[in-house]
Amino acid sequence: MSDTATPGAGPALLEAVDLSAGYGSLAAVRNLNLKVGAGEIVALLGANGAGKTTTILTLCGELEPLGGEVRWLGEPAKGPLHRRARDGLSLVTEEKSVFMGLSASENLRLGSGDPSAAIELFPELEPHLARKAGLLSGGQQQMLTLARALAGRPRVLLADELSLGLAPILVHRLLEAVRRCVDDLGTGVLLVEQHVREALQWADRVYVLERGVCVFEDTASSGRLHIEEIERSYLAGPTAS
Ligand SMILES: Nc1ncnc2c1ncn2[C@@H]1O[C@H](COP(=O)(O)OP(=O)(O)OP(=O)(O)O)[C@@H](O)[C@H]1O
Ligand SMILES: [Mg+2]
Repeated sequence: MSDTATPGAGPALLEAVDLSAGYGSLAAVRNLNLKVGAGEIVALLGANGAGKTTTILTLCGELEPLGGEVRWLGEPAKGPLHRRARDGLSLVTEEKSVFMGLSASENLRLGSGDPSAAIELFPELEPHLARKAGLLSGGQQQMLTLARALAGRPRVLLADELSLGLAPILVHRLLEAVRRCVDDLGTGVLLVEQHVREALQWADRVYVLERGVCVFEDTASSGRLHIEEIERSYLAGPTAS
């Protein structure tokens, strides 16, 4: 992580402008202003039900905004995820999106990137390349998912709890690889992560949502100073008064 550059100072690759988002007429996220620039990890934190996934789904085009705008590469974003994906937007979720009946190697070849770049990022996958993905551990499957996404050299990676249910050491390993791509290739990352301290260790900037509203926005180093305040916001769940 660079201490000298000003995080968030560059032009946005992906941006939410006064964005309201949700389901039907229910706005689960309201008036959100957020941007992701090249070469930065932006952590999006908040309690269960705070609106993180709704934000990600709207940014990637799976949900239509209820108000405001999503901007992608400086233009109002139009069209579904697959169109944005062609221009370098990649989404990784906690659902390990591997084809269980295919080998790890075949899974990597199905990605848009070079399988050898995936193995360079995660050499620990190499001994398992010939195995069916369904026989790999949950952590290895998620490594495969992330390796395939990063090998495609996306401009922006949206990561929604990619480490859900994984051991802390593996969370560390996955985020370390994400950081490497950010630093080496200038990837922009929006990272939703329940491991708050781990996320703030790797991030450059942070937004905290509370019941659909952004209540904290700053550099990750400031976030680390306010860690207890941020963790307290997790107690303000969607049903709290
Ligand atoms: N498909 C849906 N239809 C209606 N309401 C939904 C739908 N999905 C989510 N919601 C509601 O939208 C709000 C925000 O949910 P969202 O999934 O964005 O939260 P989150 O921050 O990702 O939570 P978590 O940490 O549990 O994943 C919640 O009140 C949730 O109940
Ligand atoms: Mg979610």
